[in-house]
Amino acid sequence: MYVCMCYGITDTAIKRAVTEDGVGNMRQLKEQLQVGSQCGRCIQMAQQIIDSTIIDESLFKDVG
Ligand code: FES
Repeated sequence: MYVCMCYGITDTAIKRAVTEDGVGNMRQLKEQLQVGSQCGRCIQMAQQIIDSTIIDESLFKDVG
């Protein structure tokens, strides 16, 4: 699913940036993938994906 149409960024790409590159907020995601630096319509959804990915990650770590 595309989150950012301007840069062709998918939810998978955002999740990967969080889990593999340590992106933890919108500013870092913007630096990494440029998400949100054109029209800005994707920012809210991108933020939600960052948040839910971080929550999933920490749940996984608790189990491990
Ligand atoms: S859709 Fe992401 S900047 Fe436009």
